[in-house]
Amino acid sequence: MRPEFSKQRFPEHGENFHRFDPRRLIPVSIRRALHRRFGHPEISQFFTSNPEWTPPPGVFGELYAKHTGRMVIKWVHYLPIYDQLFERYRAGMPESMPARPIRMLEIGVMRGGSLDLWRSYFGPEATIFGIDIDRACAALDTPENPVRIGSQADPEFLKRVVAEMGGIDIVLDDGSHIAGHQRASLDVLLPLLSEGGLYVIEDTQCSYWASYGGGLRRPGQIVEVAKSMVDGLSKWSYRGPIGKRAKFASDEIESITFFDSVVAFRKAKRRIPSAQVAGGAEEERRAWNLSERKN
Ligand SMILES: C[S@@+](CC[C@H](N)C(=O)[O-])C[C@H]1O[C@@H](n2cnc3c(N)ncnc32)[C@H](O)[C@@H]1O
Repeated sequence: MRPEFSKQRFPEHGENFHRFDPRRLIPVSIRRALHRRFGHPEISQFFTSNPEWTPPPGVFGELYAKHTGRMVIKWVHYLPIYDQLFERYRAGMPESMPARPIRMLEIGVMRGGSLDLWRSYFGPEATIFGIDIDRACAALDTPENPVRIGSQADPEFLKRVVAEMGGIDIVLDDGSHIAGHQRASLDVLLPLLSEGGLYVIEDTQCSYWASYGGGLRRPGQIVEVAKSMVDGLSKWSYRGPIGKRAKFASDEIESITFFDSVVAFRKAKRRIPSAQVAGGAEEERRAWNLSERKN
């Protein structure tokens, strides 16, 4: 029997497919057969609820293990990744002087459990908004963790939410996991991030699954989009055309970090790099001072 988790997501995605998708022209029975043959492995086998479970070391893992409120499901290997990515923001935005509390948007609220976790992680001063396309999530809206209803693929909705937040430092995209939606959010929100901000997309394993508009090295899936932006990071090292997202990276992205099923972009204005000689004898140092050379 197909487990509940897969049933929820395969193949129609219900309200997730609010835009026209040509795959919907293929009858569901054929899509199901194609998915059985070429789709992702049965991932529900990895879902557990083990009372003996101990978290990996780290602040987020500890909070997660202690969490008793609204339900949340996270892949265990994300817990230390969250610490690696987000710990520097716990005391506020490192770039602002004096440090101010962070403003975070989580795309995909579901039961609200992860909003609670982010609140515990970033503290009472942080601004933490959630958005979800599911109208039922409106019931989770509180002054502490506002929830707004709309699609992550709707640029005007995203801009309105960011304006209400008073700006944005961190995005966590845990929404539909559909390539077109992920791209739409990235294109709107990445430019809106503050200096030093972080944009994290999780569950990028879906990029490899046809049922999410993905496939191995399929153009347009979000891991491929992120890979294409990597060329922008060293743009001064070569000549040649690059796409508009890579161009954006060449001006505004400091790093793109790939993990298993998570990609993170850190925003920071780029400068032409310079090297500085240290140590050595005066003669050597002068020989390496290229700016003093005639040609
Ligand atoms: C994986 S769940 C989010 C789980 C939550 N972040 C957590 O960790 O508990 C994905 C959520 O994304 C929402 N969603 C699906 N399509 C969306 C869209 N186009 N825009 C915004 N949210 C969407 C779903 O309704 C669902 O609640």
